[in-house]
Amino acid sequence: MVRHFLADDDLAPDELTEVLDLADELKADRFAHRPLDGPRAVAVIFDKHSTRTRVSFSVGIAELGGYPLVIDAQTSQMGRGEPIEDTARVLDRQCAAIVWRTFDQGRLEAMASASSVPVVNALTDLYHPCQLLADLQTVRERMGALAGLTLTYAGDGANNMAHSYLLAGANAGMHVRVASPEGYAPDAEVLAKAAALAERTGGSVAHVVDPVDAFTGADVLATDTWVSMGQEGEAADREAPFVPYALTSKALGVAAREAIVLHCLPAYRGKEIAAEVIDGPASAVWDEAENRLHAQKALLTWLLQASAQQTLPSGP
Ligand code: CP
Ligand code: NVA
Repeated sequence: MVRHFLADDDLAPDELTEVLDLADELKADRFAHRPLDGPRAVAVIFDKHSTRTRVSFSVGIAELGGYPLVIDAQTSQMGRGEPIEDTARVLDRQCAAIVWRTFDQGRLEAMASASSVPVVNALTDLYHPCQLLADLQTVRERMGALAGLTLTYAGDGANNMAHSYLLAGANAGMHVRVASPEGYAPDAEVLAKAAALAERTGGSVAHVVDPVDAFTGADVLATDTWVSMGQEGEAADREAPFVPYALTSKALGVAAREAIVLHCLPAYRGKEIAAEVIDGPASAVWDEAENRLHAQKALLTWLLQASAQQTLPSGP
C-alpha cells in the first residue's frame, strides 16, 4: 500500500522519529540519500502562493537526484475543471510523488484516493504538516528532545498551523496549548483527535482563552499570520480580537527562561509578532525555514521507501 502524508498523524510516533532522524542525517550530509536518481520527476502543484515550500521542495527534489515539476494549478487543466482523480491517474504514471498545496483537505484526499504514488500535503486550509516536520526538527536540535516540552501557539486557533501544532505536537509527546480569541477556536474534531493521540504518547493538548496563562512557562512560543491565504476579505475583522495574543517581548518574558520562538513565515512584524521578538535572540525562525528542506527530503525518502516495502509481494 502506498503511504501518503496528508495530515500530521499519517506518521505514527515511531515513524515521526525515523523521519526526524533522517532529516538530521540529511542536514549533516545533503547528498546522503538519492532515492530519485534517474532523475525521477516529482509534481509540485500550487493552488496558492508560496516562497519556502516552492523553493525547499524544488531544491530538495533535485538534491535527492530527481526533477521537480512545479505546476501552477490554475494554468493546468485542473484550473478548467478536470477531475482531481483523473489528474492523479495521469501524474502517477510519470511522477514518483505528488506534492500539492491547495484549499480544502478533501481535494487532497481525492488526489490520494486515485494515486498509486505518495501524495504530500504542502498546506491545505486544515493542516500544514510539512511545516511541522521542520518545526519539530528545529525544536529537537535546540532543546535536545520533544517529549515533555510545552509548546504554546497563539493566534488563529482555527487555521492550518494551529491544527498541525495540535496533531504533530501530540504525536511527539509534547504539551500543546493553543491560545485564541473567542470565535477562532480549533476545530473540535481535530482537538479530539489530538487529545486521543496525546493520551497514547504522554503529551497533552488544551485550548486556552487567556494568552498570559498560555505563554507562562512555555518552552516554545509559536504564532502565525492572523489572515491566512484565502481570508484576505476578513482582514479588517481579524485584527482587534487577536492583539492580546501577539508574540511580544512581554509574552516572552513570562515563558521559560530558555524559550525559543517559531513562526512558519511569512511574518507580519507589529501584528502577530513583534520585530524585537522575531529578530531577537530567542528566534529560531531562520533555522526553521532552512529545515523545511531537510525535513521534506527526509519525508520523501521515507515515503518512497515505505511505499516500496509495502508493495513487495508477501512471502509464502
Ligand atoms: N511557511 C510556508 O509554507 O511558507 P510559503 O507559504 O512561502 O511556502
Ligand atoms: N496560515 C498561513 C500559513 C502560511 C504558510 C496560511 O495558510 O496562509
